[in-house]
This record gives sequence, C-alpha cells and structure tokens, in this order.
Amino acid sequence: MSVDLGPTKPSCPGATAARRSVRQPATLLRTMRMSDVLRQLRQQHQAAGARPRLLERFAAFLPVDDSTPLISLGEGFTPLIPARTLGRIIGCPLLHLKIEGQNPTGSFKDRGMVLAVAKAMEEGSRVLLCASTGNTAASAAAYGAAAGMEVVVILPRGQVAQGKLLQAQAAGARIVSVDSGFDGALKVVLDLVAGSAGQRAATLVNSLNPFRIQGQKTAAFEICEDLGGAPDYLAIPVGNAGNITAYWRGFRDYQRARLVETLPVMLGFQAAGAAPLVEGRDIADPQTVATAIRIGSPASREGAMAARNESGGRIASVTDEEILEAYRDLARSEGIFCEPASAASVAGVRKLARAGTIDPGATIVCVLTGHGLKDPVTASRELAARTIDSEPTTAGVRAALGW
Ligand code: F0G
Repeated sequence: MSVDLGPTKPSCPGATAARRSVRQPATLLRTMRMSDVLRQLRQQHQAAGARPRLLERFAAFLPVDDSTPLISLGEGFTPLIPARTLGRIIGCPLLHLKIEGQNPTGSFKDRGMVLAVAKAMEEGSRVLLCASTGNTAASAAAYGAAAGMEVVVILPRGQVAQGKLLQAQAAGARIVSVDSGFDGALKVVLDLVAGSAGQRAATLVNSLNPFRIQGQKTAAFEICEDLGGAPDYLAIPVGNAGNITAYWRGFRDYQRARLVETLPVMLGFQAAGAAPLVEGRDIADPQTVATAIRIGSPASREGAMAARNESGGRIASVTDEEILEAYRDLARSEGIFCEPASAASVAGVRKLARAGTIDPGATIVCVLTGHGLKDPVTASRELAARTIDSEPTTAGVRAALGW
C-alpha cells in the first residue's frame, strides 16, 4: 500500500515559481510504503512531538541560543488557503488567505509573544506588561500563565471585544481598564516601564518589544515555504503597525538568505476612521467596528512606512462597510470566520482590484490576523441567522426544513 505524503517542498523560489505551484498543486508527490510511514512517524514523535516548535524550526533567524527556554503552546504553522470562490468574486483568482486565527489564542500575536516571553524568562523577569486592543492581552495572559509569570494588561474601557477580555480573565491576568483609547493605554504602559528602574521590573510585551517583531516575522517564512517563493502582494491590516513591520523583515530575511528570489509588494490597510498613516497625522478619537485596529498613533509607524516605501507598496484605508462586506464574504464563501479587523486585508485588495490597480494574474496573500469568535457581538449583529424550531422527530425536522 502506498500513502500520499503531500507535496514536497518546491526548490525554486520566486514569484513565478509561486504562481506555478498554485496552478499545479500537489504535482510532486512522494509515495512510501505504509510500514515506512509508520516508522518515520514514530521517529518524529520520539524526536520532537507531532508538531514542530516555532522557536526551534526558525532558530537560525531568531535571537535564541542554548539559554533560551524553547517554550511553546503550539503557535505558528498556520494554514495558507487558496480562496478560489472569493478570489473569483473579487477578480483575483490567485488569492490566498493566511489563517492566523488558528494560533493557540486565536491571533498572530502568539508568534511574537512566545519569543518575548521566552526572552523574559531567560532574563529572569517575573512580570509581563502590555496595553492592548485585546489580542496582545489574551496572548500575554496565556503565555504568562504557562510560564508562571504575573501578567498585567491595560485595556481601553469599553473598546475590547468580549472574547479577548474573557481570554485574559480566564488565564488569570490582572486587568486594568482605563478611560481612554488604546493610545492612552500605551502611553501609561510606557511611563510605567520607564519608571520601573529599581522598583517592580516589568517586561513590556507590546510590539515595541523587538522580540515580538522577530517572532511575528516567521509568518512570512511560512508563506514563502508554502508557495515556493514570495507572493507578488502581501495584504495586511495595520493598527499599531508592528505586524507589517514584522512581515517585511521576514521576507527580507529570506531573500538575504537566498531562500527566495523576490519580495512582495506590501499593502497595508487601516480602517477609514482610524487611518493615521493614510492621513499623515495622529487621529485623536479613532473610530471603527474593527476594534483591534482602533489606533490613532501607531508606535511602529516607521516600520510600516519602510515596508511601503521599500516594497513599492501602499497604505490605504477601507470603510467599516467595506470591512464588514469582506467579513461576511469570507465566512459565507470560504468558510473562514475571522474577526472584523482581519477582513480589512481582503476589503483592501477588493478595493484595489476594483480600481484596476492589481494585476489579476498576481499571487496575493491576505493575512487574516484573528479568529471570528473573538468578537461575538459583531458576529451576531452581522452574521447571525434564524434558528428553526422543530419537534425532536424526523418528521418534525423534515417539516421544519420543508423537505
Ligand atoms: N489584526 C488584529 C486581529 C489585531 O489584534 C491587531 C493588533 C492588528 C490586526 C494590527 O496589528 O498592531 O501590529 O498593526 N492588535 C493589537 C493588540 C494592537 O493590542 O492586540 P498591528
């Protein structure tokens, strides 16, 4: 008996190779006898467990050494899914989705948090501190709990989606709610860290912590490996601008190491009511349904601008209506339930495609940064469907369905 082990890793990276691998999926298949497969699986299990650890797999590109604890909650290695139906609808047939909602706490933050917490442990820190629109808090709380550390999160009152708040509470973080937006909360956190010398030394785990960016860049590595090269375009929501900075660094690292030939054009999307990088000024009271990116003064603006300028890309805005249209379409056409902020990447690509700015033959990756269950209130408003009541009998269900 032979077993399909899936496609082997393509050896010739680059955008052209990426397109080829997309058009001819799984043409290179290895076949092995079942007994060999079982032996290989047993060896892998003994060596490293069924799942590789992110810090180990990409160690050559990360600041880890023998003294770094290689902790893991199973972060990274998220799927890259070809979105054929939605791609056809928006006129970009080679559209792909990087499903970061499949990380352990349901967002991309876990990639950076695992490294930030490992380094904090290495340095002997006992306390993690962050400001957050919700996902960083959920991630810090989980990794802090696993590491046995105290976690303090400062949140903008009334602006954090329910699921994220519950995650931070569940993991036992101390939660301080302040009457300001994210920008005000971050300012308090930075003041606390600056004034902590000699007092309670807390490790900042916002993306201003350079280890966060280093960890998050691993998503770019995975995309290159899955496509067999860099995509032509990488589209991503932008809030505090750490993640676009991280992806650009990841693509450049892989190019410098000659693992890919080309670099993608970077497309960052902000919500129209919270678009400081598009408007070229801080926004005092940012507003958007996408609470994750409700940020008026991005801390990593320089990284975002470098990604845009060096890649020949752009940072543009999408309205809440456009975000919610993409949010619904992702769920209904692709079965991908993401949070509203994540859908900004697809909304943005659709907008550029409508304007004729994107080559329809291009390989595009949209990063879907967080899971839809994070924000049940928006989901029930935008996606809820009627439940049909029925008698608990076959005849009753048939009648209820009109079958
Ligand atoms: N998407 C989601 C789901 C997010 O939670 C965030 C940021 C972003 C996109 C934007 O990423 O800030 O690196 O540009 N969330 C942060 C938080 C601010 O506190 O959870 P960015």
